[in-house]
Amino acid sequence: MGEWVSVARADEVLADTPLVVDLDDGTVVLARVGDDIVAIEDLCTHDGGEISEGCIVEGAIECPRHGARFCLRTGEVLSPPAYESLHIFPVRIEDGMVRVCDDRWD
Ligand code: FES
Repeated sequence: MGEWVSVARADEVLADTPLVVDLDDGTVVLARVGDDIVAIEDLCTHDGGEISEGCIVEGAIECPRHGARFCLRTGEVLSPPAYESLHIFPVRIEDGMVRVCDDRWD
C-alpha cells in the first residue's frame, strides 16, 4: 500500500469545482461528491486530456477535449470516446485535512 499524504484542507474542496493538488511527483484532482471527497488522476484515459479542466455534473466529470464522462466515485466510463476507467485514489479526512494514498505503483 502506498503512503498517505496530506494534500489540501477539506474545506478547500468546493462542490462542482475540481481542485488540482500535488501528490508526490504528480498531480491529482479532488472533487466533492455529496458529503464525500474523491481523488482521481488528472489524465483522461481517452487521449491524455487534463480532466481537471472539465465540468462536474451530478457526480460525473466530463473531459473538456472530446466529452468523455466518468463517474467520480468509481472512475467508470459513462460515455465515450473513452473506454477505460479513471484511476481513483483512496481518500481519508483527518483533522480537517484531505489525505490521499498514492497507490499508483503498488
Ligand atoms: S482526451 Fe478526454 S475525451 Fe478525449
